[in-house]
Amino acid sequence: MPEFIGAVDQGTTSSRFLIFDKQGNLITHHQIELEQEYPRPGWVEHDPYKILESVLTCIENTIARFELMGHKISDIKGRLKWITRREIKANVDCVQLAIGITNQRETTLMWDRKTGKPLHNAIVWSDVRTDELVHQLKKRPDSDIVVDRCGLEITSYFSAVKLAWLLKNDKNVAEAAKEKRAAFGTVDSWLLYNLSGGADGGSHCTDVTNASRTLLMNLKSLKWDPELLKFFDIPDHVLPSLVSSSEKYGEVHKGVLKGVPITSCMGDQQAALLGQKCFDKGDAKSTFGTGAFMLFNTGTTAVKSSHGLITTVAFQLGRNAKPNYALEGSVAVAGSSLRWLRDNLRLIDSMEQVSELASRVQDTGGVYFVTAFSGLFAPYWRDDARGTMVGLTSYTNKYHLARATFESMSFQTRAILESMNLDATVPLKVLKVDGGVSNSDVAMQIQADLLGIEVHRPAMRETTALGVAIAAGLAVGVWKGVHELDQVNQKGTTVFVPHLDKEAREEKYQAWRRAVEASYNWTD
Ligand code: G3P
Repeated sequence: MPEFIGAVDQGTTSSRFLIFDKQGNLITHHQIELEQEYPRPGWVEHDPYKILESVLTCIENTIARFELMGHKISDIKGRLKWITRREIKANVDCVQLAIGITNQRETTLMWDRKTGKPLHNAIVWSDVRTDELVHQLKKRPDSDIVVDRCGLEITSYFSAVKLAWLLKNDKNVAEAAKEKRAAFGTVDSWLLYNLSGGADGGSHCTDVTNASRTLLMNLKSLKWDPELLKFFDIPDHVLPSLVSSSEKYGEVHKGVLKGVPITSCMGDQQAALLGQKCFDKGDAKSTFGTGAFMLFNTGTTAVKSSHGLITTVAFQLGRNAKPNYALEGSVAVAGSSLRWLRDNLRLIDSMEQVSELASRVQDTGGVYFVTAFSGLFAPYWRDDARGTMVGLTSYTNKYHLARATFESMSFQTRAILESMNLDATVPLKVLKVDGGVSNSDVAMQIQADLLGIEVHRPAMRETTALGVAIAAGLAVGVWKGVHELDQVNQKGTTVFVPHLDKEAREEKYQAWRRAVEASYNWTD
């Protein structure tokens, strides 16, 4: 019987549902753009229902295509249901299916347990409304416990400060919390809760990769940490239960997938690490999506960074499995800078056009663009930085700006690579890449040139979805261990070799550092 795995991939700017077969081949998928709401400068929100609806529509459309391809799904109730003799005789292509959920991380939701209805819009990871609260928390004499216990810096990026803000500033949330009706969750929790029944008994849980982004989970015990809850003033009754990244959490309660088990849940960057088959210590990848996120697998040791990186759970493949950890360098703005060129400057009609413009010139003509639209993340961690363009002359044209935009994400990745090499002590030789921006040959050549190491791009770039499909498949026995997947997506890798000489590379990087300095101190 063929075995297939479905993957929900809910990102900042789009939702998808994808189906993979046992060989890791992408069979079919559907994608929908997700609207961002900007109610005030620095605020970024999603409507929780729009997140859910986009996912449900993707599931329906993908399954419709899957059935058109000759597969039969309508009477599948999960992998324990075996096909009937009649179906075998009729040679119907019946399938076993499990699904996994991967998601934009840190984005914070609150809903009412009694009604299942949202209490507020989702506050997106890149939202900086909590800047003031972050400053106050950082000044506290006991603030060191935070990075010690959870491996994260106190910044507006992570969930606990968004949650604390909601509890203090939103009347609905405060009232529901007082009456113990309020439930907190990141996007995985919201989807899992709704897919598995919502107010009618839906599971309220989150996996340890997502929880490791909240500022509330102890990295060693993988439990909610009472001291951290106290520090951020979060009541424990709002929290979801903690689960591993690969186990059965529940079943889809209605719709085309009714009865299908949900067996994986992972933050999207951790899922991409699995999807790039970075299973072992020393493997690393960078995903260029809305932001860019480089993760370095440190094995079963949670390595503390001394160079501006954060420590995160990479995956825990089973309830009793040992977790793998990763060092992460996050860049807040990558693909979203191309969107900014399109929607705000109207310099291009489509994001793909940036590649074409950037390829018209050999360099940026001395322009450096620090895309610090909402501060700078790793390794700088400067909330007070703002977007800065330097080196403009009357010679500068849109081709230079397009190229400088690509260079900006590459320089930030270079800064992260330096920190990773120092923390990990073994220099990285190859960077595996994926995500929307990686489709651009120009961008990836610039990345190789500015890093001075090879950049490897797989043929099938839906690695985030593949990663969560791997975790979901492992939970139901499609594969027995990750190394059964070593050969998946191996063919057709494009290798970008650095061409820029070392001296030119270092000169450019020093200029970039001066541009970064110029981007500081632009907030009150
Ligand atoms: O930490 C934020 C990250 O998970 C967002 O991912 O794919 O929307 O850029 P993406």
